[in-house]
Amino acid sequence: MVYKQLEQRGMAQPPVTVSTLRSMKASRDPIACLTAYDASFALLVDEAGADLVLVGDSLGMVIQGHDTTVPVTVSDIIYHSRSVARGLRRAFLVADMPFMSYTTPVQALDNAVRLMQEGGAMMVKLEGGAGQIRIVEHLARHDIPVCAHIGLKPQSVHKLGGFRVQGREEGQARQMVEDARALEAAGADIVLLECVPSEVGRSVRDAVGVPVIGIGAGPDVDGQILVLYDMLGVTQGRVPRFVQNFMAGAESLADGCAAYVHAVKSRAYPSAQHCFS
Ligand code: KIV
Repeated sequence: MVYKQLEQRGMAQPPVTVSTLRSMKASRDPIACLTAYDASFALLVDEAGADLVLVGDSLGMVIQGHDTTVPVTVSDIIYHSRSVARGLRRAFLVADMPFMSYTTPVQALDNAVRLMQEGGAMMVKLEGGAGQIRIVEHLARHDIPVCAHIGLKPQSVHKLGGFRVQGREEGQARQMVEDARALEAAGADIVLLECVPSEVGRSVRDAVGVPVIGIGAGPDVDGQILVLYDMLGVTQGRVPRFVQNFMAGAESLADGCAAYVHAVKSRAYPSAQHCFS
């Protein structure tokens, strides 16, 4: 529809944009985020009131059954992102740039354009700190909204030797704060911070003007995100410490999603048991 954006501006619940997310940070209104991989769950999560939905490369683990996110391809993300886009009404859609899909500025731009044009994403997410400045600058120069994922970077699992808490040493924590500042200066619109002590989450939040979304980054960041299947208790075996199963006590999937959004908005989640110190 022509001028859909203008029409939607008058709606009671207009679609979330980068400006909405920035104002939420400014007014300390917690941003509730979840991953989704298909249209049905996207609709459920959107109706529960999630502000942002990520088509994460976690799909390699929770959908495809791999041990890591490394095998995920750009085509995989496009396929799932396109389905999720059809289910969303209000939430802001972010799609992950998979492993090795952003090794040069030209390659990153080509793939980000595909995620937006073919996958319907409104923003792309890539993993990396100061090493990705050139890539973020190039995308930002072409008006591609970017979420920079720092802290634990699952695509680097083989280099890290496992999924481990990051930023426990002072030098590492200081570097993370500097990376977040540098990424913001390069044009990143959101910082996603994974698996760090709560103190580091707070420092990164205070260091940048863009929203900081945490997963295992403590209660003081601007928003929270969880992998949908972890949050719904679908994931088998050992789950990370920061995961809470919101289906416990819920009567339906819709209730479980709504309980998560409510817990984030009311700051009931994450509690001390979900945090690293
Ligand atoms: O791929 C993903 O789902 C993610 C989350 C862990 C935030 O990056």
